Amino acid sequence: MDTTDEFQIHLQRLPFKKATAIETVYALGNGHFGVRASNPLQGDNPDYPGQPGLFINGFYDLTALHYGEDYPGYPQNSQTMCQLPDPRFIVLEIDGLRSDDETFSVKQVDKNLNLKTGLLSEIYEITSPTDKTVRLTMQTFASQDDARIYGVAYSLSALNFSGNVKVIKQHRYTQQQIPQHDIDVRNVQRQSQLTCTYQEADHPTMQMITRKSQLAITLQVQPLKNDDQPVPKLTTQDQLPTYVTDFDLVPGIAQEVDFVYSIGFPHPVVIANADPDTVDQTLANETFSTLLNKSAHQWAIFWDNSDVELKGDAKLAKSIRFNLFHLNQAAGRDGMTSIPAKGLTGSGYEGHYFWNAEMFMLPFFIFTQPETAKQVLSYRYSKLLQAQQRAREMTVKKGVLFPWRTINGTEASAYYPTGTAQVHINADIAYAVDLYVRVTDDQDFLATQGLPLIIETARFWLSYGHYATDDAHHGRFVINDVTGPDEYTAMVNNNYYTNRMAQHNLYLAAHYARRLGQTDNNVIGKLGLTTTEIDAFQHAADQMYLPFDPNRQIKKQDDTSTEKPVWPIAETPRTQFPLLLHYHPMTIYHYQVNKQADTVMSDFLFPEDQDQAQLKRDYDYYEAITVHDSSLSRAIFGILAHRLDEADKSYQYFMDTALTDLTDAQGNVGDGIHAANMGGSWLSLIYGFAGLEIKDTTLHLHPKLPTEWLEMRFKLWFQHRHIGITINHQAVILENLKGKPITIQIGDKQVTLGSERVTVPFPI
Ligand code: BGC
Repeated sequence: MDTTDEFQIHLQRLPFKKATAIETVYALGNGHFGVRASNPLQGDNPDYPGQPGLFINGFYDLTALHYGEDYPGYPQNSQTMCQLPDPRFIVLEIDGLRSDDETFSVKQVDKNLNLKTGLLSEIYEITSPTDKTVRLTMQTFASQDDARIYGVAYSLSALNFSGNVKVIKQHRYTQQQIPQHDIDVRNVQRQSQLTCTYQEADHPTMQMITRKSQLAITLQVQPLKNDDQPVPKLTTQDQLPTYVTDFDLVPGIAQEVDFVYSIGFPHPVVIANADPDTVDQTLANETFSTLLNKSAHQWAIFWDNSDVELKGDAKLAKSIRFNLFHLNQAAGRDGMTSIPAKGLTGSGYEGHYFWNAEMFMLPFFIFTQPETAKQVLSYRYSKLLQAQQRAREMTVKKGVLFPWRTINGTEASAYYPTGTAQVHINADIAYAVDLYVRVTDDQDFLATQGLPLIIETARFWLSYGHYATDDAHHGRFVINDVTGPDEYTAMVNNNYYTNRMAQHNLYLAAHYARRLGQTDNNVIGKLGLTTTEIDAFQHAADQMYLPFDPNRQIKKQDDTSTEKPVWPIAETPRTQFPLLLHYHPMTIYHYQVNKQADTVMSDFLFPEDQDQAQLKRDYDYYEAITVHDSSLSRAIFGILAHRLDEADKSYQYFMDTALTDLTDAQGNVGDGIHAANMGGSWLSLIYGFAGLEIKDTTLHLHPKLPTEWLEMRFKLWFQHRHIGITINHQAVILENLKGKPITIQIGDKQVTLGSERVTVPFPI
């Protein structure tokens, strides 16, 4: 296997060997589906320590939630992304013994993921109970060209015998049980009972229907043309359609059989029969390599737009690429799905979408894959009705309340103090819409989807918050009983981040309503906006209460945050972290201890709000009480450390962020990637070291590379221009690769970029 290149993730170089972790790291996906890279023979063996499976974005089932005390408005169902059995799975038959009945030894010899092409290559040595050993080489890809396609090629050679080996591929999904090993509260797993039916078609086609959500998907497998190689025969085994391929093996000569899976999109069951959504007719002339090439071509386009080239630290450069690769694999692109917290690589967090998508991952897509960003935002637009119903359920008279965690647009959090109470999700969505619009100048999206999202979320704040009448708040607009991003503090009044983001949301509503109202009365009319309401947005934003501690001169996380005792972090044994797995939530809430960036997240997003001295005070205070039990934390602290010129600290935070999953630093990559943290590594590079800021509609860069690196190169889309940026220790080099001239700001210098490359030497 060629493993020399900087785009290769090679098994021998991974610092861990846990089966579940390996399955996640090598998972393949394309935003529609994801397949964990499990051992292909042991997929249905209850003793196999892995968690094999196929996930389809938006394909979930409902399970009733049971509460001892079931209060009004509690979600009645959880939503769980279905862990479907593994399309990589095969059975080998040697000397009449089958690998699914007998114990075959399976040794994983090698595994390599080519990030450039998306091709996963693996080698296994498999020994039958009769001591015959075959070498199985497997190649797989999840197509970036046609979201339904998953290709798998099996090549076999005999190592110590000559004779017959059968490769059996059966749609035996009902039998394959996914083993459940986990007790981590973050990974509640609910086994879905799927109904499977097999259709008589040219190729084995199976329809799976979820029990309660009544969604259906269709899966079809067919062999691909492969000259001179054994041809699979379609037969029936155990009453199931089955492909059997006979190999007459001799040592030294490999033989191959290739399959393609066509994985349909989830449908409501009523229309599933009408549209099996498979691609069988179009595949007759394809081979594994033609399909792979089409997919690899799309990966090439992805890298051309999205790569961040780092010179000076090869391991780090690879890790960044690994993160970007997984981000791209995770993002739904059909306008009906978003980006799950664990991508499509694992069952952690039940496949739910959180604020992670908008605040940690979307910036990467907005600047490098704007079409994908738009689809992810469209998902939120498609769920406006559910968000409106939720607001009413919460007796909020106007506007919408988006769910804290969800797949289908309704709230799935059974624990409201760190679920529904995180109402900042509304403002996070509005923030992302505005960023998307300013970066892409997509006015059509703004008028049709963006404005409704911004207005409806802003309306929520007007209803949920109020003008205070007590002395402490001096008639300001306050928002009580909420939880901010820090999940170690719950149900507080005036969480700084929430109020600041709500203020932004309200300003956006007033701004865009006025602006669009000037040119298109229709847009405003459709939303029922009046001047009075627009003024009310403006007024509430102007009057928003932002808590401040006058003694410490810091932004206060909430009205009472600094009054609590500080958790003795240094005295707490390492084994007691993450705290949430060891202490009752109330014990944690009792103290000042932060799970993750909260108030400083606002400092990160709104650099114009504070001078360096204020930032330093906020940073020092909150860093001392933050334990980073969430993977969403370190990237933000690292960016702020960089802004404060604390180079060592910022580099350390950055390295921890960048390497989290490739080193399994948190020990739980087996449950799925930490997709927000991966997005955080891009934020660290671009918002941190390159110093990106969008002020109004102008792009600013304040670059400063860590001394450890020689150079960083990347491209950004900005207002229909494609801008190439190279930063080293001598200069910033800019190229306008597409589009009209544009003026951007590099440090204190204004630079107009025409067709010529521009070099701006340091100091800037
Ligand atoms: C974090 C949340 C995050 C969720 C999903 C939690 O641990 O505290 O901020 O949204 O994980 O990643």
